[in-house]
Amino acid sequence: MSAVSLSDLVLRYGGNLPRYTSYPTAASFTDAVGPAQAEQWLRALPADAPVSLYFHVPFCDELCRFCGCNTSVMRHEDGRSAYGDLLREELRRVVALVGPQRSVRHLQFGGGTPSTLPAAALRQVMRSVRKFFRIEADAELAMELDPRHVPEGYPALLGELGFTRISLGVQDLEEKVQEACGRHQSFAQTEACINAVRAAGVSGVNVDLIYGLPYQTEESVAATARKIASLRPSRLAVFGYAHVPWKQKRQRLIPEESLPQPVERLRQRARIEEVLCAEGYLPIGLDHYALPDDTLVRAMQAGTLRRNFQGYTTDSSTVLLGMGASAISMLPGGYTQNITAVAPYARALADAPCLPVARGVARTAEDTLRGRLIEELMCTMQVDLQAGAAAEHDFAAEYAALQPFVEDGFVLLDGSCIRVMEAGRPFLRNVAAVFDTHRQALSSTTPDAAPQPRFATAL
Ligand SMILES: C[S@@+](CC[C@H](N)C(=O)[O-])C[C@H]1O[C@@H](n2cnc3c(N)ncnc32)[C@H](O)[C@@H]1O
Repeated sequence: MSAVSLSDLVLRYGGNLPRYTSYPTAASFTDAVGPAQAEQWLRALPADAPVSLYFHVPFCDELCRFCGCNTSVMRHEDGRSAYGDLLREELRRVVALVGPQRSVRHLQFGGGTPSTLPAAALRQVMRSVRKFFRIEADAELAMELDPRHVPEGYPALLGELGFTRISLGVQDLEEKVQEACGRHQSFAQTEACINAVRAAGVSGVNVDLIYGLPYQTEESVAATARKIASLRPSRLAVFGYAHVPWKQKRQRLIPEESLPQPVERLRQRARIEEVLCAEGYLPIGLDHYALPDDTLVRAMQAGTLRRNFQGYTTDSSTVLLGMGASAISMLPGGYTQNITAVAPYARALADAPCLPVARGVARTAEDTLRGRLIEELMCTMQVDLQAGAAAEHDFAAEYAALQPFVEDGFVLLDGSCIRVMEAGRPFLRNVAAVFDTHRQALSSTTPDAAPQPRFATAL
């Protein structure tokens, strides 16, 4: 692609877009959905429905300037342990509504840095999980780790508790980039962390990289990707840096002029992809890469790949129960999200016997249909508008809106089939957005009320 055509593409496709880890997206959540609605949806779950579990731990040992997540530093061991008690209390309340002994195939601890949960607290949470649920023998139990702060004995603990996958933040290996991000992490630290968890029997290893960070260049991101690929993680997530300083104050410490421009970001993304593919990884959806024998690749090939709040997943459950401050749950009736900040989340659990839910959104039948189309596009890069319930719906306007993508060589329209071409992979969110009526409604009704964009740039 020439520089001119890349800048043209940025002009046309460079807006602010969601990552479509749900539909409707979190931008549509309001306080019209609260604890009472959440409890009603939970009680209504079919008796035999399996569930997935997510535990959110919003603490880190230190804060990185680029980080867009809601995290804080909690130094006191007592505070960290007390948070484990809150997770168990919330879990107990949820189980009282959905009933015990439901089957679980996927469980994840995310954050923040969930290994800030002291070993004894993690043991207690997992004891509650195993008491209340039936964890299937082939279940995936996953946790995010920060390679700079792995507590002594934690890898062995994860192995002992049956964890099967860890995700490590790396982002970039270049000194200048790390300095600007306030995250110093040597290659040796990352390697040692991977070796330790593998030695403990945790075989699934994911690594997160980011492009578009301050001072990154095509050469530097390619060097990072090559070096990390030499450690053979089974999966890599390659995110575009989301610069949202209006939402995340710590990002204001990053000088705007150090950030690569959108054309450069597209080039960096392409270079990382080139390196990873040459190293034997296969691209998955928008931003994942996996070794051919990884379950994510097998799910993609079998057409069973899914996308939820944790990103791309083999998790086929339609119910995700999220525990912890800011955790999101996916239920047949809609999505719910807990109170974001830790102190009010803790107070809500202490003050009343209900769930600490702050907001959410109900899903209509049309949302479910559009959500399925968006998820299929994000996972398999194709969708058939004549398949299943979509056949009953008129998508003429969406079909017409795809024409510019066709002219750019990103989409092939074959009868009722929409196929995103390899060249269109970086623009997958733009294609999905064609089916997002909530976004169209939000941007047409609230330009003054929301002067800052709700999402980061798509490119
Ligand atoms: C919830 S964080 C957990 C990382 C873990 N605590 C660590 O420090 O290694 C998960 C991932 O989100 C990604 N991430 C965080 N902030 C981001 C941003 N502003 N833009 C893009 N990706 C971001 C990073 O790749 C990070 O590894």
